[in-house]
Amino acid sequence: MKNIWKTLKKPIFILAPMDDVTDTVFRQIIADLAAPDLYFTEFTSVDGIVSEKGFEPVSRRLQYTKKERPIIAQIWGNDPEKFFKASQLVAKMGFDGIDINMGCPEKSVVKRGMCAALIHNPKLAGEIIQSVKEGGKLPVSIKTRIGIREIQTEEWIGFLLKQGLDALEVHGRTVREMSKVPAHWEEIAKAVKLRDKINSKTLIIGNGDVSSYLDGLDKIKEYGVDGVMIGTGIFKNLWIFEKSEKVHKLSFNQRLNQLLKHTRLFVKTWGEEKSFVILKKFFKCYISDFEGASEIRAKFMETKNLEEVEKLALSYSKFS
Ligand SMILES: Cc1cc2nc3c(=O)[nH]c(=O)nc-3n(C[C@H](O)[C@H](O)[C@H](O)COP(=O)(O)O)c2cc1C
Repeated sequence: MKNIWKTLKKPIFILAPMDDVTDTVFRQIIADLAAPDLYFTEFTSVDGIVSEKGFEPVSRRLQYTKKERPIIAQIWGNDPEKFFKASQLVAKMGFDGIDINMGCPEKSVVKRGMCAALIHNPKLAGEIIQSVKEGGKLPVSIKTRIGIREIQTEEWIGFLLKQGLDALEVHGRTVREMSKVPAHWEEIAKAVKLRDKINSKTLIIGNGDVSSYLDGLDKIKEYGVDGVMIGTGIFKNLWIFEKSEKVHKLSFNQRLNQLLKHTRLFVKTWGEEKSFVILKKFFKCYISDFEGASEIRAKFMETKNLEEVEKLALSYSKFS
């Protein structure tokens, strides 16, 4: 199998992993509107993947369809042996690569030495990388931040660049900064310089505050990265991966139809497995930016199931 990171055409535009957002349903919706070059799953715990109770509780995080290719499975944990076994299983599922989460700032996981905590534990980070390489025999990438309390780009990114990774997605903030300050793109540029200095082949993908396709192109040019990863920018523009700045002006009925399509796919895919509340955060993507949107959205936010959404949409479409 070809190494996906080596076959993607640059500049590379990636849909960022977002827990309870970028599941198979949302990725299919985006694939139909304007597809990124590469998808990531939500972060999935290796403890869950290898659990003796079975794979079931986390398997929906690794569910995908042909439409969402190429796709990378993102995994997290702190036990190299579990990473090894989880990577074997992930490889069997047909993923194009494995990404290790070394950036999630959630206190509960950091306290247990996982995700962003690995920034202060390069020895364990190195063991985990080796386990994933040997277990999955797939391309390996890491998504990380530039430090925990302080910016430590040289030390941490410098270390990762020596691990023979296929790619490094650098979110330009420290753990302490969460998402509260603008991303330090100059630190991401520093990562590129460090990479070039040691002649490493690792691709560097910048992440943080990319607000449009053109903004992505500007950042790629200005900071020298091989591509960008876009997270929250997708909420404001579902067509963010379209290779132009075309503005999609949807009619009210088109908005309702898109919302219905998303709701039906969510219910068809997850049934009772996922709470309907998780779906409702997407209503704003469809019902916003027109006069009276907030009142109508408030009505949709009161719905509890597909039937109620369909009934409400029908009542509005009659008047449009
Ligand atoms: C709701 C939400 C869930 C997220 N879940 C993940 C995750 O599962 N794995 C991960 O590496 N990053 C996760 N992130 C971080 C994003 O991938 C991204 O790094 C961050 O949002 C900054 O990029 P942006 O400015 O383009 O949004 C999440 C972010 C948000 C807002």
